[in-house]
Amino acid sequence: MVLNQQKQIKMKKPVYLDYNATTPVDPEVAKEMIPYIQTFFGNPSSSYSIGRDNKEAVNRARKQVADLINANPEEIIFTSGGTESNNHAIQGVSLANKEKGKHIITSSIEHPAVTEVCKHLNSMGYEITWLPVDMKGTVNPEDVENAIRSDTVLITIMQANNEVGTIQPIQEIAAIAKQKKIVFHTDAAQSVGKIKVDVNTLGVDLLSIAGHKLYAPKGIGAIYIKQGTKIENLMYGAGQEKGIRPGTENVPYIVALGKACEIAQRDLEINNAHMYRMRERLISGLRQKLGSIVKLNADLKNCLPNTLSIAFEKVDAHALTSLIGNEVFISTGSACHADSVEISSVLKAMNIDIKIATCTVRISTGKYTTDKEIDMAIGAISDKVLKLTN
Ligand SMILES: Cc1ncc(COP(=O)(O)O)c(C=O)c1O
Repeated sequence: MVLNQQKQIKMKKPVYLDYNATTPVDPEVAKEMIPYIQTFFGNPSSSYSIGRDNKEAVNRARKQVADLINANPEEIIFTSGGTESNNHAIQGVSLANKEKGKHIITSSIEHPAVTEVCKHLNSMGYEITWLPVDMKGTVNPEDVENAIRSDTVLITIMQANNEVGTIQPIQEIAAIAKQKKIVFHTDAAQSVGKIKVDVNTLGVDLLSIAGHKLYAPKGIGAIYIKQGTKIENLMYGAGQEKGIRPGTENVPYIVALGKACEIAQRDLEINNAHMYRMRERLISGLRQKLGSIVKLNADLKNCLPNTLSIAFEKVDAHALTSLIGNEVFISTGSACHADSVEISSVLKAMNIDIKIATCTVRISTGKYTTDKEIDMAIGAISDKVLKLTN
């Protein structure tokens, strides 16, 4: 026990640079939700005061989420997170429009919370078109237009990629979808809270939000469903969330998501600029220490401000992350199996050279990242990279 404590005192606090995986809960968010765990336990459907108060809290949160993305509160449905929002959007729209057709268009760099849903629908008789991306991970709107058929019922393309950060031309794609009268969904799990997201400017019909990517707890999210969009339920039950997503509301987490959205809106510019500055400091520090072996996979001009897909030539990403251990938390762009390495589907779709892909790590900064942490990360990463190249 004493030894463990001594060890903990000696150990430096790890530098967390994996904010695209998840974010810590903002203390302001935690403070807001705690009364709804400890004190205000009423069921929002109950007609007496402690129920009504909770209903009001849910509706306050609904407005906070709506305000962040410039939607009407009635267009926001709370879910358990990004995965459920994507499932609801993709399955719900596809099933509701099956009389029109069974063709869906998506991209080849989506998160599994989209690709697996599409594969499931494929097994139920839907046809999926997987659009290619260029070397920077961008979908060409012309490809979307050319893929549209008379039986296309849905286009689903993510706003920003979780691994490389590329931001898609959503506005252009949405305009094409609208002109052809096809429902358009975007998975905005990674973009909401990092860049300005306005559903009206974008012109989308459905948009997915994941709370834990914007400093709310895990297990809460929302879906924007534009008024008038034809969609089927995933679940059936009592009338909560207008009957679209029944089940007694997770009030503390809904309150948390609302607060997180309010903070994201309030601090968007500051956080965006801060995360960008942290990433730039990291890139220039790594380049200074390591020179031309540093390779970037995405086009940083068209990228989330915090995301960096970076390879150190001839340095295997898994060897690097295991040597770094608990000094810096980052993730790799490939999965390691017993006797092989599987390149991520995103890097594969971008046609990244396999030698670069196996050396790729994802580093993502956040609003709590400090100069000191970045300098520690530069030191630790370059030290290990040099060890592995010599
Ligand atoms: C782009 C994207 N979509 C969806 C999800 C899934 O969200 P959740 O973890 O809330 O289910 C993630 C999470 O990593 C993501 O990055």
